[in-house]
Amino acid sequence: MKKIVILFSGNGTNLQNIAKKLHNKSLIIAKAITNNPKAKGIERAKRFGIDVEVIDHTKFISREEFDKALVAAIKEVEPDLVVLAGFMRILTPVFAQTITNAINIHPSLLPLFKGAKAIERSFTSDMRVAGVTVHWVSKELDSGKIIEQACFHREDESLEEFEAKIHALEYEIYPKVITKLLFDEK
Ligand code: GRF
Repeated sequence: MKKIVILFSGNGTNLQNIAKKLHNKSLIIAKAITNNPKAKGIERAKRFGIDVEVIDHTKFISREEFDKALVAAIKEVEPDLVVLAGFMRILTPVFAQTITNAINIHPSLLPLFKGAKAIERSFTSDMRVAGVTVHWVSKELDSGKIIEQACFHREDESLEEFEAKIHALEYEIYPKVITKLLFDEK
């Protein structure tokens, strides 16, 4: 059985979706790690019996020290893949140098709209398509090699409708990419 670790910071709906579709079926979510003790995702993960570890970033004197603790917590379970799902911390090279099998999902068509508030920036842009990207985690924010993208043609949606379409694409492609990376013959 393959093992993954999921990193999250907030709502945890991607975590929940991956758990629902894949946990204890084709793979095991060996651990979920959050930097936010108040993350809603903690409850969601626990409902699936997933072990949650809280590493509160406010307790560390630097980003590097936090990343060292994070890397150590990941290494304890030796996962086949590390999955960032709404993990809202900027990582230092300490992370990418040690954890080379991590992927992230970003709610825009990278390389456009890197960083925070990607959905809002994508929504207010002139682009007639919008979408999501799964990419490898590298030293630079939202800049690792792109693995998969999905997009839709824009109607005149409200921001809420636009956001819902973005999340629906995330829920569709992230489990597929994880499955492909872990189980497809290279
Ligand atoms: C998603 O839109 C993801 O692309 C972005 O943060 C959001 C997390 O949502 N990185 P959730 O916590 O999975 O509900």
